[in-house]
Amino acid sequence: MSKWGIEEKETLDAIKILRGNILNIAAGDGRFNNKLLEISDSVTAIDIDEKELNILKENSDSNNLITKVVDITKRFPFEDSSFDGIFCTGTLHLFDVETVKSILKEIKRVLKPNGKIVLDFATDIKRLDKEGNIVTFEGEGSYSTSEAVELFEKELNDFSLNIDKSTFKEENLNDDAGYNQITGNFLIISGTKKYIKRL
Ligand SMILES: C[S@@+](CC[C@H](N)C(=O)[O-])C[C@H]1O[C@@H](n2cnc3c(N)ncnc32)[C@H](O)[C@@H]1O
Repeated sequence: MSKWGIEEKETLDAIKILRGNILNIAAGDGRFNNKLLEISDSVTAIDIDEKELNILKENSDSNNLITKVVDITKRFPFEDSSFDGIFCTGTLHLFDVETVKSILKEIKRVLKPNGKIVLDFATDIKRLDKEGNIVTFEGEGSYSTSEAVELFEKELNDFSLNIDKSTFKEENLNDDAGYNQITGNFLIISGTKKYIKRL
């Protein structure tokens, strides 16, 4: 199992809209990655941590997998309109608002017209260590559900967008995660980039 927890049913359902060449952003150790490979022509899995990508590769025997070390806070190393679908879970909420906006701008740039996105975004997060103490990470974003909905509706106003709300609870995570339990709400943001014909 991934150190980041289970594959939530809501996300597995949302994934079904993706096809073609998919970019898996901040893919980690591969939670959801084999599911993405099942439904696509190819998956490009990117993460800043090469060790995570090595675990992801060990857990996959697909020839349609590309991995690349990428810092998503910088310009993505891909041409405009490179991907049919873009997937990102468990990550965007870690960044401050300006960084989230710049990542969304890059997502829009490398996604083809009519391309699809499936993103999740955790809100109202609470993490506990084994002793029940609250764990926080310096510099990470902290969002309420309404703030997050407003942010995505504004930044992705050129998408036909669907935002579903759910809750999560992961317990007994291993020490690598840096905490034992995490609870909160999460948004599943899915949609299609509108094709705008310029006259
Ligand atoms: C909580 S994990 C989520 C992993 C995976 N997407 C999942 O849902 O299981 C966050 C991931 O974001 C990656 N990450 C953090 N900052 C990053 C950055 N600036 N660029 C690319 N990846 C980053 C971490 O290395 C880690 O694999």
